[in-house]
Formats: sequence, structure tokens, C-alpha cells
Amino acid sequence: MQKADIGLVGLAVMGENLIMNMESKGFTVACYNRTVEKVDAFVNGRAKGKNIIGCHSLEELAANLAKPRKVFLMVKAGAAVDGMIENLLKVLEPGDIIVDGGNSHFPDTIRRTQYVESKGLLYVGTGVSGGEEGALKGPSMMPGGSPAAWPYVKDIFQGICAKVEDGTPCCDWVGENGAGHFVKMVHNGIEYGDMQLICESYQLMRDLLGMSDDEMHEVFKKWNTTELDSYLIEITRDILAFKDTDGSPIVEKILDTAGQKGTGKWTGIAALDEGVPLTLIGEAVFARCLSAMKNDRVEAAKAYARPKPEFKGDKAAFIEAIRQALYASKIISYAQGYTLMRTAAKTYNWNLNYGGIALMWRGGCIIRSVFLGKIKEAYDNNPQLSNLLLDPYFKATIEKLVPAWRQVAAAALQYGIPAPTMTSALSYFDGYTTERLPANLLQAQRDYFGAHTYERLDKPRGEFFHTNWTGHGGSTSAATYNA
Ligand code: 2AM
Repeated sequence: MQKADIGLVGLAVMGENLIMNMESKGFTVACYNRTVEKVDAFVNGRAKGKNIIGCHSLEELAANLAKPRKVFLMVKAGAAVDGMIENLLKVLEPGDIIVDGGNSHFPDTIRRTQYVESKGLLYVGTGVSGGEEGALKGPSMMPGGSPAAWPYVKDIFQGICAKVEDGTPCCDWVGENGAGHFVKMVHNGIEYGDMQLICESYQLMRDLLGMSDDEMHEVFKKWNTTELDSYLIEITRDILAFKDTDGSPIVEKILDTAGQKGTGKWTGIAALDEGVPLTLIGEAVFARCLSAMKNDRVEAAKAYARPKPEFKGDKAAFIEAIRQALYASKIISYAQGYTLMRTAAKTYNWNLNYGGIALMWRGGCIIRSVFLGKIKEAYDNNPQLSNLLLDPYFKATIEKLVPAWRQVAAAALQYGIPAPTMTSALSYFDGYTTERLPANLLQAQRDYFGAHTYERLDKPRGEFFHTNWTGHGGSTSAATYNA
């Protein structure tokens, strides 16, 4: 009997769709699920007549796989992955490859890669983005792990993934151990930011300009033909036009409390760990938290009863300004996300291909956009680019956008429309482009109360000074205490 090219464990929707996708690209797939009834249901249902082999045990799965065996796990993130790895190690052999395609946290993938390699097998932790439809028709895939595994899984991964217009696959090797899941996590963080930026634009139009959903639908339709051309703008356009059974826009009937599953939070935590100012994504996560405090907000809204803002000015011009503010803020968000990846790459010894990452996100996933092509070009031009904002194209673009961005941020603050990502992104930009920040005063404060010492502008870096600010603190620095 013909052996399968790959085995897949975990027959929930994502797993099933990935199998159907693999099979449709000419691969034979063996499958297994903990609840084995699901294997039969699948093999006799959607998989009937296809090159899909149902297995009722992991032993049977292993026996059906061509060597080196490749087993793709699509089970619940967390303990289920560790449990499955343990069970697979009993039936697989050195040289075989275990792939985790779930939403695992990257430190787990770092640990698992090391563990599986210590048993003589290879490990791949891959981000898979694009939801159920992506899994079936072509997801964006971000694989990392044991580099030696890549040649064995490359054809399958690049066969099933999304492709950009010229046919380039939205999947390439990301890097060692947890690099793939890290990049997937940053993708999800960026997704939080992109969504929040769109939501702020919507609130400015709705609450400041008094626009109807139909009018906003037209605006997003137009925006989708500009640099903002992207999946999220496209679905926003469609959502705003969607009517409930009574003919009114359904979006206005949806409770305004956002949910979250935690990948945005992970990205924020990683940024704090790395000391990277990932302000836009951070604000996007906190905006969801604030939205979830609905009861408090209702009470506070009553307590403060702020007057409804009345916009005075050219509406059409302001709509275009919002578009530009959104675009500028989006550039900041990606610049910050890329800085996080660059910094983490140093910490974890990953050799990341930044242009390749933009290309992986270019199609198949939730943040797919035309804009990512520009990021790819920026890193093609200079693979060592330290910050996207220093790329000539993005510099010229931001410079054009700044006036409108300031206008929108100022209006949001003046009229009292919350726009945390747009306004904080502008503060980041102003901080990043300011030669002298007030941290000299901050260092003086730290030295005053804690003798933490400071460096001087008129002395070489690395020389530390302490001042006896009060006349009775002594001249001993905290560094000396610790020594
Ligand atoms: P199940 O059908 O037996 O529940 C998504 O939940 C997928 O992960 C399902 O295929 C589910 O299998 C699987 N899964 C969840 N927890 C698991 C575990 N501890 N071991 C194996 N598979 C698990």
C-alpha cells in the first residue's frame, strides 16, 4: 500500500481543512484523532474517495507514513501538544519530524524543539494564519524549529500555503526553534493594532462627523482602492453595509465589549521583556480591556455626561485626513513590530529574514495587504534596516502624512473621541524623532532619590556620575552599595 506523505493529528475544523488542502495538492495524508470516532466520521464523510488514510492509533499512523515520517499536530495549544509529543516519541524513530501547527506560545516551542531534538527527532513549530478558510484554500505559514527539517516539509508547506499574485508562496523558513511561533505571535499583535486603528477611524466618522453606516461603507470602499487596500479594510466595508432583519445596520446592535484570546497580550509582554516600545499594539490590547469594562463605562458616562462633540470644518477633507492618520499610524505599528522581531532575534539567536516575513504576511492571513509589499521592498533594499521609519520610501510617505495625522490626533483629543492607537503612535513618532528627550531630568530624579547615577553629555558614554543633591545624602552611589 502506498505510504502517506504526511500524517495529521487533530480532526477539528482547522485540521480537517488542512488535510483537504494537502490532499487537493496531490499529497496523501494519514490522519488520527484522540476521539477515534471522528476519524471514521471524517474518512466516511468529507474525505471519502480521497487519498486520505484514517488511523485508529498512533502506531497505525506511524506504520502508514513514508520515512522520514512527518506528523503535523493540529491539537489544542498547551498540555495537549506536550502529551501528543510524548505519545509520538513512542512510535516514531530518530530522523522523523513532529510539526506543531497550533497557536503555541513561542517559549513552549523553544523548549519542545530542544526536547524533541534531544531524542534524535526533528521539530517544527509553525504559525498557521488565515482561519478555517485559509487552512482549506491557502494559509500564511510561518515555520521555525529544527533547520534540518525544512527540506523535508518545504514542498508540502509551500504547496498548500497562500500565494501572492506572481505565485510566490506565503511561507518560508523563519528560523530556529521558536522563531516561527514568535513571528506568528507578532502577526497577531499587529492584527490587534490594525483592527483598533480601523475602529478608531470608524468612531471618529460616526461620533465626530455624524456619519451613517452606509456613508462609512462608501468611505471604506474607497479606502480599499488606496494604499490601505487590505483584507481588514475590505471586511469592514462589508460589515458596515450588512443589514439586520429589520433593515438597519447590524453592527450598531452589537455589544461594544471586545474579546481576546491572549496573543496580543503575549506580544505586549514580549515587548516589555525585550524593552521595545511597542506602544501601538499595547494600546490596542488595553483598548479591548477598556471596552470590556462596559458597566463601569456606562456609569462613568452618566457621571461625566460630556457634551456631544460638534465638528466644525470641512467633512470631506477630514475624512481624507483620517485615512492618512490611519496609514501613518499603521506604518508606526509595523515599524514597532519589526523592531520587536529584530530585538528578539538578537536575544534568541534567530537569523530572521525580514523581507521574507513581510511576504509570508502578504497573502493568506488576516493582516494581508498591499502595504506589506512595500515592507518587503524596504528590506530587499536594505536587509539590515534598523527601523522601517528610516527606509527612504517610508520616510517620504510619513512626511507627507504627518500634517493630517496631527490634525486628526488633535481633533480626537479636543473633541474627546478616544483614539488611543492613533494618538500614541504620533507621540512615539515625535519621541523617536526627538534628539533630546527629558530623560536627563529623569536620570537626575533617579540619582536624587536612589543614587542611581547618570552619564554626562560632556563625558564619554559608560562613565557614571553621582551628585550629592541634598547636601546630606553623601556621595556614595547605589552602584557602589550593590558592589
Ligand atoms: P478530540 O476530538 O479528541 O477532543 C481541537 O480541540 C483538537 O485537539 C481536537 O481534535 C481534539 O481532539 C484535540 N485535543 C484536545 N486536547 C487533546 C489532548 N489532550 N490530546 C489529544 N488531542 C487533543
